[in-house]
Amino acid sequence: MKVTFKIWRYDPAKDVKPYFQDYTFDVKEGMTVLDCLYYIKENIDATLAFRASCRMGICGSCAMYINKKPRLACETQALSLGTDVIEIAPLPNYKNIKDLVPDLTPLFEKHKNVKPYIIPENEQEFLNPTGEYSQTPVELEEYLQFAYCIKCGACLAACPTVGTTPDFPGPQALAQAYRYNADNRDFGEKERKIQ
Ligand code: FES
Repeated sequence: MKVTFKIWRYDPAKDVKPYFQDYTFDVKEGMTVLDCLYYIKENIDATLAFRASCRMGICGSCAMYINKKPRLACETQALSLGTDVIEIAPLPNYKNIKDLVPDLTPLFEKHKNVKPYIIPENEQEFLNPTGEYSQTPVELEEYLQFAYCIKCGACLAACPTVGTTPDFPGPQALAQAYRYNADNRDFGEKERKIQ
């Protein structure tokens, strides 16, 4: 099916402001939006900048604003969007570095601020353990789903509070704080308190 991709272009070295550029080509069944971006880069316009790595929804690099929703480009089948026009822009609520590349510095700063690591009750024992820190499956379940965050940044792009209050930690950092607070090996809840 012929699909037109309307892609946000912005090169701060030469563009006064961003604009959308159209690319139209045949998209085959099974192509992800990321496959389509690689197709454009390899066959139509080598100047297009975007970020990607694993191509399998693990690294979190390819989050972008696809038809006005934050999504992973490698996990989004182009034809499943059910339209022959697909608009792609960088994630909102971040500074735009170039084309589809957002500056994720605030995401990682907020993540760092909640001390996303186990804070032990006894540091010496933790650094030089004299035994195992075993956990039951029930204790693991307390936080496991929050350990699956791939830090793609899409949740901050979707969060209206982050949009209006940049200092708000946002869903990613809050979920990571919970991930450690709910871990029975951790004693850092007080230090991790979100102000
Ligand atoms: S390329 Fe890694 S999550 Fe999409």
